[in-house]
Amino acid sequence: MSDQTAYRFDTRCLHAGQAPDPITGSRAVPIHATSSYVFKSTDHAANLFALKEFGNIYSRLMNPTCDVLEQRMAALDGGVGALAVSSGQAAITISILTICHSGQNFISATSLYGGTWTLFTQTFAKLGVEVRFFDPAQPESLRKLVDENTRCVYLETLGNPKNDVPDFATVARIAHDLGLPVVCDNTVMTPYLFRPFEHGIDIAVYSCTKFIGGHGLHIGGCIVDSGKFDWTLAAGKWPEFTAPDPSYHGMVFAEALKPFGNIAFIIKCRTHLLRDMGSCMSPFAAFLFLLGLETLHVRMPRHCENALAVAQHLEKHPAVEWVNYPGLPNHPFHANAKKYLPLGCGAILGFGIKGAPWPSFSRIL
Ligand SMILES: Cc1ncc(COP(=O)(O)O)c(C=O)c1O
Repeated sequence: MSDQTAYRFDTRCLHAGQAPDPITGSRAVPIHATSSYVFKSTDHAANLFALKEFGNIYSRLMNPTCDVLEQRMAALDGGVGALAVSSGQAAITISILTICHSGQNFISATSLYGGTWTLFTQTFAKLGVEVRFFDPAQPESLRKLVDENTRCVYLETLGNPKNDVPDFATVARIAHDLGLPVVCDNTVMTPYLFRPFEHGIDIAVYSCTKFIGGHGLHIGGCIVDSGKFDWTLAAGKWPEFTAPDPSYHGMVFAEALKPFGNIAFIIKCRTHLLRDMGSCMSPFAAFLFLLGLETLHVRMPRHCENALAVAQHLEKHPAVEWVNYPGLPNHPFHANAKKYLPLGCGAILGFGIKGAPWPSFSRIL
């Protein structure tokens, strides 16, 4: 598939990123189980390391099977590039730490997957990276948290498991006013139900472990870069991209990569933290996620249909006190859900049984 955008979503789920192997004609994406690659010449090797051309160096950094998954995820979200990693947690960690270091801070919505909450409040704190929380229902409240060391705004498409749906356009407008990129965890929606870059988000992160894979077979994650955030606009604000990088033989990423488009962020994720911390995806995992993606456009409508039917059933059940599903008209975020999730609200729902203690984290009504 050469021009990925020329094809509709369902076709991209099946074919984006893959050119059938010219030697074997293999229709399925081959699992490239190899740690290393043969260079055509020393010049070829030098060009690859210098990022003057793209190709395979070593499977901690890139792999042809993972590359198909990366291209397919980028094509589904409408991004300029993607990076497959070993888990959703790795995707979140790499995307934040690529732009945020010790002594700096970022602003996050309060409504988060528990593992992300712990990562932000405990592990990042140990690294000297501070998280400051805002209520996603009150986007204006994030303004007062920002200072000269603030690096990005982070949120989830649908807070897991609180099921709140932020007003993305407003959050993005405020963040961009403040010169900050927006990072969004789109795990529970997937690109089928919500395409973050169409609503002002700059970077999407995924746990592929859930609906992307779809069969509970492997842990994996992915970062997708919209290529829309201009890291060169505010002079000196993003030295990661605009100043010589001592960890990559003095390369100025934004300048060196300019001929390929605005891909400095996603390449930096790969050549810095993925290289140094090693949380790469195995080609076997990538193969399983590609298989999952082939049916994404078939599974997601069914997930939404089933979840809505269960929510409607529970709502009428005499033993049920409350149901938390944004597809229900009485849900506090139903208006935002209708605006941003017209194809359905996904498959996460919460409910409480009358008279029983319920987990407070899932109650919103
Ligand atoms: C919304 C969300 N983001 C990230 C993660 C972490 O993903 P992983 O388990 O692949 O590391 C999860 C896991 O449940 C999740 O629900």
